[in-house]
Amino acid sequence: MKILSVVGARPNFMKIAPFVKAINNHNNNNPDYKITHTLLHTGQHYDFRMSDNFFHDLGIPEPEINLGVGSGTHAEQVGNTMIEFEKVLLIMRPDWVVVVGDVNATLACSVTAKKEIIKCCHIEAGLRSGDMTMPEEINRIVTDRVSDLLLAPDQISVNNLHSEGVPENRIVMTGNIMIDTFDANIDRAKELNINDIIAGNLATALNRIPTLKENEPFAFVTLHRPSNVDELNTLSSITNFLSKEATKELKIIWSVHPRTEKNLKKFKLWDSLAENKNMILLHPISYTETLKLNLSARLIMTDSGGLQEESTVLGTPCITLRNNTERPVTLRQNGGTSVLAGNNPEIIRKEFYNALTMERKPFRPPLWDGHAAERCLKAILEYQT
Ligand code: UD1
Repeated sequence: MKILSVVGARPNFMKIAPFVKAINNHNNNNPDYKITHTLLHTGQHYDFRMSDNFFHDLGIPEPEINLGVGSGTHAEQVGNTMIEFEKVLLIMRPDWVVVVGDVNATLACSVTAKKEIIKCCHIEAGLRSGDMTMPEEINRIVTDRVSDLLLAPDQISVNNLHSEGVPENRIVMTGNIMIDTFDANIDRAKELNINDIIAGNLATALNRIPTLKENEPFAFVTLHRPSNVDELNTLSSITNFLSKEATKELKIIWSVHPRTEKNLKKFKLWDSLAENKNMILLHPISYTETLKLNLSARLIMTDSGGLQEESTVLGTPCITLRNNTERPVTLRQNGGTSVLAGNNPEIIRKEFYNALTMERKPFRPPLWDGHAAERCLKAILEYQT
């Protein structure tokens, strides 16, 4: 069997790492029935800190193929990926294309595979935010609609697929593959030193390197959704709260996405953040560095789906700066640690002070057990039309 797996952007790398490992284990245990696997990177993310760093940190082999698509509008990214990916499919003709998550690479490669009548498997299927203004929601719906095999991380996602009329034989609840990566790396993350992370990733040119005292509380912040960072009014009201109010309670460590850094500089918000002694601005950090900050933070403020999931497993109080989520299993009412605060400063303020008083409450939904990748591969091997 020939499997071609696709990654394109940062959140894909943590999802493919355990799948690659599961294929290697299969091949070691089944010398007579080996899988030929190729890893392809569309090149949507290309900076060292957004891409290569994750391959090193997670021990993922270098992708054999990189389409070099890079940044652009949605149509440019999706269109260019389709054009380049089709050329690869015409030469390779794999039995399966495996896509993960909900980025533009996921959409482009699933559609292209199906047009070439190649079977497609979507890992992390069935997530729905109901918000069609999010590019990721369009990517999820289209990818699930065309894929042959839909591997869902939780029961809510399975239910979403049922309610859309997907036949039972195309859905398997495998659990959350991100948590395989979490379990494989959490001990390494615990060994890291927060002040080393700060010193190695500082995004501002300061004449002193900020440090945290032993056990000093801090909040960990990440933001990258266009709905939060592309408009001046929205971004400035969030940064005002963080800089003028939240940093009076505790230090903030903010790992800044390139989209966000660009906009903070464009809107002339960067310098005042950088001057605040309690605001520590970092470049994008590695997977294990992110886990270390997550497991040590008093609270997290984020618009990242992956961080909502990891903070649920770690028990870190999480203020999600979105009005909706495709991951309701991470919400407090469902046992998780996350609360939706949108980008309204009044609600963010209320949830921030609330989170400061909360205890850590780790929670694992069913099948978030570190073995999802094995179940994903089994589902592919056992798939019958
Ligand atoms: C993409 C995904 C989003 C995911 C996020 C994680 C889509 C539609 N969006 O959003 O779901 O949560 O990745 O990071 O696929 N840039 C760099 N260097 C890079 C990559 C990007 O500087 O290596 C800058 C470029 O200015 C680019 C901008 O960041 O235009 C946005 O990158 P893009 O890949 O378009 O979307 P993300 O916001 O990263």
